[in-house]
Amino acid sequence: ELCKGINGLDKIILREVRGCSAEVYLFGGHVTSWKNEHGEELLFVSNKAIFKPPKAIRGGIPICFPQFSNLGSLEQHGFARTRFWTIDNDPPPFPTNSSNKAFIDLILKHSEEDVKIWPHRYEFRLRITLGPGGDLMLTSRIRNTNTDGKSFTFTFAYHTYFHVTDISEVRVEGLETLDYLDNLKNRERFTEQGDAIVFESEVDKVYLSTPTKIAILDHERKRTFELRKDGLPDAVVWNPWDKKAKAIPDLGDDEYKHMLCVEAACVEKPITLKPGEEWRGRQELSAVPSSYCSGQ
Ligand code: BG6
Repeated sequence: ELCKGINGLDKIILREVRGCSAEVYLFGGHVTSWKNEHGEELLFVSNKAIFKPPKAIRGGIPICFPQFSNLGSLEQHGFARTRFWTIDNDPPPFPTNSSNKAFIDLILKHSEEDVKIWPHRYEFRLRITLGPGGDLMLTSRIRNTNTDGKSFTFTFAYHTYFHVTDISEVRVEGLETLDYLDNLKNRERFTEQGDAIVFESEVDKVYLSTPTKIAILDHERKRTFELRKDGLPDAVVWNPWDKKAKAIPDLGDDEYKHMLCVEAACVEKPITLKPGEEWRGRQELSAVPSSYCSGQ
């Protein structure tokens, strides 16, 4: 269902039989809402989010492509999150079966403007699926369509903002004992010690070669998010905490307490595609009551 969202921007609403839903803005190819069958919002979007170009929407699931972070010549996190995507009415077949599921196919292609800042031709197809039961799946297929024989290289992230009740009561499982690059310490490499990850100050880390499943436990709401990923070896964990939050104009001063970014990503080893080659990267999210989770 295509309709008008904030500031008249086009958005698509996906609905599932039990009442779960998701919303996707064509601006950014950006998921801005994911609700369970009780209508509870599972993603964080800032009250101060600006739904208007040229800035990406603060919250939801921004797509970072072709550059994660500010490592490189492009703007921070690349341009895909601030471009207008279109609906792809005739996508090539996907390997996964999407029958009985609500989904939308979007596409972003190089524009003549963007070729000036990133001199490559590409087709980026994004399928967003809301499965029965409310799981949210994002599948990206990026193809090099250069006609000059040139390969291109990119980094990537699904920059998911999870809505959490109280960040100081949240635990992340699946990243313990892994190596990470610490963005707060000149991207130096460290090894995570000890138990599950908890939060008591600013965090900005890129965990390397992680397991495919990561759990985010929101104790107060007795809810566990499960993130499963494929083709995306790394995982970024970010919370700006109080000081940094105050410096971000489109984030309320106290909102950092209710958000946690855990991002399925490919950062350490960029992906290179020759002309005609395609890369796939997939993320699946589910939200389950904690008591149903293993180990609870
Ligand atoms: C995270 C980065 O992924 O995104 C952080 O690791 C960055 O360094 C954050 O601050 C937010 O970025 P932006 O551009 O959306 O403000």
